[in-house]
Amino acid sequence: MHQDAQVAMIHRLFGHIDAGTTSYADTIQHNPITRYTCAEQFSRERQVLFRETPLLLGLSARIANPGDYVVEDVDGLSILLVRDREGGVRAYHNICRHRAAPVATGAGNARRFTCPYHAWTYGLDGALKAVPDADSFDGICKAENGLFEVPAAERHGLIFVRPGGGAAIDVDQHLAGLEDDVSTYDFDTFHHYRSLTIERQMNWKLCPETFMEGYHLQYLHRNSVGSIFHSNLMVFDHFGPHSRLTLPRQRIANLRDKPESDWHLVPETAMIYTFFPNVTLVVQAGHVEMWRSYPADGVPGASRVQVSVFTPEAVEAEKARAFYEKNIDLAIRTVDGEDFPLSEHIQTGHGAGAHDAVIYGRNEPALIHYHQSLVAALTG
Ligand code: FES
Ligand SMILES: [Fe+2]
Repeated sequence: MHQDAQVAMIHRLFGHIDAGTTSYADTIQHNPITRYTCAEQFSRERQVLFRETPLLLGLSARIANPGDYVVEDVDGLSILLVRDREGGVRAYHNICRHRAAPVATGAGNARRFTCPYHAWTYGLDGALKAVPDADSFDGICKAENGLFEVPAAERHGLIFVRPGGGAAIDVDQHLAGLEDDVSTYDFDTFHHYRSLTIERQMNWKLCPETFMEGYHLQYLHRNSVGSIFHSNLMVFDHFGPHSRLTLPRQRIANLRDKPESDWHLVPETAMIYTFFPNVTLVVQAGHVEMWRSYPADGVPGASRVQVSVFTPEAVEAEKARAFYEKNIDLAIRTVDGEDFPLSEHIQTGHGAGAHDAVIYGRNEPALIHYHQSLVAALTG
């Protein structure tokens, strides 16, 4: 965030702290639990949100150098994300044109991708380079049988992919005004520290939703991060379907004695960005966490969450590693140890059909905005 905007945001936070308020929606809202259980809704989400919408797959550092690649499971669709020789980001369906075996697994650096089944070989640009016993394929045209490429775009250190193919991605247009803010973080200079996968028996939306209000901090998280932050106090802003929550730490009070030129937002807050529809990016002093939530197993009640941690410097020294491990451990313990088990119980309750709807309070504006955005995307 630009410095003048940081100062304005800190004034908004002090306003809420002094008045005992938070950002409010105009009215409460009831959200039907079928949004978490209905097969028809789920099938539409899979098509519209996880195939047609540009999805944030990572910061640039996930594939930092030419030849770097990573395979991502996007709701059952294997996507091969590659940095090509020219330094551009490319995305392919990770499916061999011969008989559809995956041509890559995991992550690494490669000059080419050789299918493990019959050794058809593709370049970083997706072109089919070699076919063993090509005579048996009756002069198959290599130029027409490269990997199936889908739109990918990189801007402000963020990588987006439209997994199902379609129009090229205009990142700034997609970000709907959020680009001005995210461009100030220099995400393109961050380093990938590590990633992990969490599988949970809960609808994929329950992951982004758990980051969308600060109302629960003093209760659910009273033994972890609850005392670090102000509870039930967040500044909410939205940009198209995306949103930003600014959550103040208790220690922000120290800024009151300092000149505004020394007011910096990130050390005093957690900045929680929702990149519609499935990614939460938490920016805080020291590191950035990206939580990407996808449907799993083709059912509404299961999800796969990919957590990636990025750091402003490469973590090499043991002391630095210990510092990051401690911070990351607290984040994982809080979300995976406290939020997600509760989310699984919520999903079980929804599945049992004992109630019709959940209620969002006026103090939960991000949840209300999120579901309005989902309805608009799915019916638009
Ligand atoms: S399936 Fe890839 S070479 Fe046969
Ligand atoms: Fe939480």
